[in-house]
Amino acid sequence: MSTPAQPAAEIGVIGGSGFYSFLHDTEEVDVQTPYGPPSAPPTVGELDGRRVAFIPRHGPDHRYPPHRIPYRANLWALRSLGVRQVVAPSAVGSLTTAYPAGTLVVPDQLVDRTSGRAQTFFDENGAVHVSFADPYCPAGRRAALTTTTRAGWQPIDGGTLVVIEGPRFSTRAESQWYAAQGWTIVGMTGHPEAVLARELALCYTPLCLVTDLDAGIEEGEGVTMEEVFRVFGENVDRLRAAVSELITALPADRTCSCPNSLDGMSLPFDLP
Ligand code: ADE
Repeated sequence: MSTPAQPAAEIGVIGGSGFYSFLHDTEEVDVQTPYGPPSAPPTVGELDGRRVAFIPRHGPDHRYPPHRIPYRANLWALRSLGVRQVVAPSAVGSLTTAYPAGTLVVPDQLVDRTSGRAQTFFDENGAVHVSFADPYCPAGRRAALTTTTRAGWQPIDGGTLVVIEGPRFSTRAESQWYAAQGWTIVGMTGHPEAVLARELALCYTPLCLVTDLDAGIEEGEGVTMEEVFRVFGENVDRLRAAVSELITALPADRTCSCPNSLDGMSLPFDLP
């Protein structure tokens, strides 16, 4: 394991274990953060001339449940490696029969139903309020839709991801309530990941793979962990391919507003 002396990567991926197998010349790097260690030491490698750092969101052996993931350490570690754009694949449940298992959704909105997670870097020495009206990078979303369509997916452009605290799945009533609000997918890890990326002026692009119809939508026994893992496993190769296509298509120069998310604010510390 090495400690980087200079920016090692420009693009970050936070995803399932083993998601980095498309990278070449990989090495694990040791990154310290004020928030403790990331889920695992980032693996840095290369893809088509782009330098990429990968962190397995749930850590080795899936050791961190969604509410225990060191979200701040993960984003801080990526930025300190030089990362400015983050790609975030994840498994989600569907709140509509129009999006069955295997559907890829690139949401454009998020609803936070988590509780008690550290969701800011700015919790002392002054307030910093970032805009979060549009939680995801528009350029990253466009690239995700273009590349996944080209790769044969029929990605869903937009929709609302509701992020629940977990680790339990939703009751039928909760699930029906989410659907009645017009929210389209449900997951456990999309928050605070996206807002922490915004607080570090990073671009953040979600790629949400539907693994199940949530409890209020299907009439069977409700969602099980076994179902989620099985369907994710069945789709992991194509999702990994989608991530690698997206990495090569992300713009080298950022013209979106994500880099300016902290403009004009007085920060209590220097960004890494
Ligand atoms: N992740 C995958 N499926 C899910 C569901 N139905 N609810 C919350 N998180 C999920």
